Amino acid sequence: IPVLTILVFSPLFPTEASMAQTVTQSQPEMSVQEAETATLDCTYDTRESNYYLYWYKQTASGGQMIPIIRQEAYKQENATEDRFSVNFQKAAKSLGLKISDSQLGDAAVYFCALQEHTVRQAPGRG
Ligand SMILES: *[C@@H]1O[C@H](CO)[C@@H](O)[C@H](O)[C@H]1NC(C)=O
Repeated sequence: IPVLTILVFSPLFPTEASMAQTVTQSQPEMSVQEAETATLDCTYDTRESNYYLYWYKQTASGGQMIPIIRQEAYKQENATEDRFSVNFQKAAKSLGLKISDSQLGDAAVYFCALQEHTVRQAPGRG
């Protein structure tokens, strides 16, 4: 049975960095057999209550980051996209990614990202 390797890295901030953002992913690398389920962990820290969480996939070093799933923090249900789903625990600030029925094309580097979307006031001019 073919084995695929999944790498997880952090941190990644898709937008302008703002203070107090942290993303932590504990497993550096994992291998799963084709058709198995892979579960990736991510915890984050933020003081905001309104934010988006993403999992991105990068198939080649230096290649494009492909967003695969987005969880909105206010949503009461776990986001699902095709074979991907999240386990979002807002109180624990954790966003697991579950890849069902793994395929060889899933071998990639995965990034978890936090995007705070507080509207910031432009600095006053006088
Ligand atoms: C996501 O699923 C997990 C496992 O079923 C559950 O514990 C958690 O509460 C769910 N999160 C949301 C936001 O529904």
